[in-house]
Amino acid sequence: MHKTEHPTSRAAVLAGIGAMVPPRVVDNEELSKSLDTNDQWIRTRTGISRRHWASPGTATGDLAAVAGERALESAGSRSVDMLILATSTPNQPMPATAPEVAAKLDLGMIPAFDISVACAGFIYGLSTAAGAIASGIADRVLVIGADIWSTRLNPEDRATAIIFGDGAGAAVLRAGDPTERGAIAGFDLGSDGARKDLAMVPGGGSRERSAPEAAVDTDEYLYMRGKEIFTHAVNRMGGSSAALLDRIGWSADSVDWFAGHQANARILHTVADVLDVDRERVLIHLDRVGNTSAASIPLALTDAAADGRLTAGERVLLTAFGGGLSWGSTALTWPKIYVPDIAS
Ligand code: COA
Repeated sequence: MHKTEHPTSRAAVLAGIGAMVPPRVVDNEELSKSLDTNDQWIRTRTGISRRHWASPGTATGDLAAVAGERALESAGSRSVDMLILATSTPNQPMPATAPEVAAKLDLGMIPAFDISVACAGFIYGLSTAAGAIASGIADRVLVIGADIWSTRLNPEDRATAIIFGDGAGAAVLRAGDPTERGAIAGFDLGSDGARKDLAMVPGGGSRERSAPEAAVDTDEYLYMRGKEIFTHAVNRMGGSSAALLDRIGWSADSVDWFAGHQANARILHTVADVLDVDRERVLIHLDRVGNTSAASIPLALTDAAADGRLTAGERVLLTAFGGGLSWGSTALTWPKIYVPDIAS
């Protein structure tokens, strides 16, 4: 059988991107009024100056729909035949939030489903979309990463309350040629469920509800063992990025932008050092939005493309890590696309 250079001739190509954050800004000074912390500690230990928190009455699906609309506008077409929403903070436990978002966007009765991979969700969403496109199940897929963690932060826990912000980011992938700009070059994905304790919401699921003694008060706050997560984040994002670069034949010095999950600036700079990517090439967006979980990477990309830093023809390495533990990396050469501003 004739073998082509690529296992499939149908690649997933980035056709549009968009993102949003809710209007309410919560700066470090505001958090310092109710928590034993201060602006200087937060900025030097995390790089975060402020974040956006959704107002009461706003659900994750609402943010997802706005980001999705902007990605469709960026793609120049409302035609999509699948919607994947990466979120760990859905509107409700059942049904999934994605069908509601598809209906809100008036996309017709397309397949729409949620995936739950915490902060690595957007990369997993891209991989699921790329698989659907390669196999011919779909031609155009809207992938959204959206989370509202602010309502699950223990207001007395200074380790989590300072880090997380709310937001949504989205991308349209279309079927195309592996050699064109915007084609997703490949994936590296992994998980380690033995360390699920490092970041989790213990309550609200079947484990708690099937306990011999039913819980009266569910414990649905987000818990995180920050120091240990930090080490795992560096090791996994570094290892996954290196494995991907090796697989797709890119050298570290050919990477124009390193778009890592925006959890902590020190984590991103350490991973860049491990990979031998210049720190100047690290996209930083967390200073203004904090850790927005599944929205973090599309938000950082949209921010950089909208302000003109990230331009067509540049090579971008994307890598994420989060609860699960879960991690993943992908890469592409940035295409020529219109990018709506996050604040628009
Ligand atoms: N304000 C002021 N002091 C704080 C503080 C805060 N918000 N949080 C912790 N401290 C204190 C600690 O109590 C400790 O004090 P001590 O030395 O007197 O015991 C000191 O600062 C250092 O604490 P430590 O936990 O070692 O801080 P750190 O440098 O590891 O930073 C995180 C804490 C949470 C910011 C950091 O570990 C981190 O970013 N982890 C990764 C988080 C992440 O990636 N999450 C997303 C994955 S899903």
